[in-house]
Amino acid sequence: MNEPEEFFLGLVVRLMIGECRCPTDVAMCLRGVCTTSGVGASPESRDDMFKMKKLLLVGVLCLAAAIGLSGCGGNQEAATSSSGGKVLKVGASVDFAPFEFQDEGQSEYQGFDMDLIRAIGKEMGYEVEISNIGFDGLIPALQAKNVDVLISGVTINDERKQNVDFSDPYYESGLTMVVRENEQNIKTFADLKGKKIAVQIGTTSAKEAKKIEGAEVKELNTPADCFMELKNGGVDAVVNDRPVNDYYIHKSGQTGVKTLPERLTSEDYGIAVAKGNKELAEKINAALKKLKENGEYDKIFAKWFGAQK
Ligand code: ARG
Repeated sequence: MNEPEEFFLGLVVRLMIGECRCPTDVAMCLRGVCTTSGVGASPESRDDMFKMKKLLLVGVLCLAAAIGLSGCGGNQEAATSSSGGKVLKVGASVDFAPFEFQDEGQSEYQGFDMDLIRAIGKEMGYEVEISNIGFDGLIPALQAKNVDVLISGVTINDERKQNVDFSDPYYESGLTMVVRENEQNIKTFADLKGKKIAVQIGTTSAKEAKKIEGAEVKELNTPADCFMELKNGGVDAVVNDRPVNDYYIHKSGQTGVKTLPERLTSEDYGIAVAKGNKELAEKINAALKKLKENGEYDKIFAKWFGAQK
């Protein structure tokens, strides 16, 4: 807090806790010396005192509002870190291995998206600060300017383009499904008619599953919740992004479930920025291009997906 803030806040606290009751002694109050007690004060002076307190309270509130506003002004400039560097505030729904996830006992978020955005930030000369936000809260967080970008396996589509802008695509994905290993009746998406399906809330999977005739769609918070629901018999299938389904089955060694080869959609992931923030989108695209040219993108890709594209 700087001096004027301390001055006003100190004053208001003293007035409110009644340490200083005498309006004529405000100057003394400020110095912390209060000689007159309000108890024996005349009715007029108590009235004056009340008005004075009100006035000061309004003053302090205005000051606080002004300080607050200057701290989070409506400009699009990047925040600065304690070390003075520019910070890129990133929102991700950290529940989507191998794109964004957190292993038990590990403090760092990991995954393809996490490595990529750190590399992009580095290329742009920004420090990257990642916040974990539920998938359906990501676009609102971007719109509220709580974060500068989203990287979270977010599929580029026209509906979302009305609310946010996207970078160039950085990963080719699409939807597949997971069923129980002993499932006999579901072999293709056409077989999902009238079935119970789990999807992550707010995703393209949710949108697509709702188009399936007679299907009962359960929208859960995370893909892990969806897989759990499938294993417990609460649903017949999980519709979700292919690389995430594959990773779940193969890499994390899940038993009792399998993925089916059919692809319902093909989708591209993009990094989202606030609608109209062309400058940031361009910087991200330039960094992405550079990483593709210098082999860094391929390195990160190979780390998470092996050699296959
Ligand atoms: N690609 C899908 C979509 O954009 C799912 C993304 C989910 N991402 C996540 N981090 N949970 O709707």
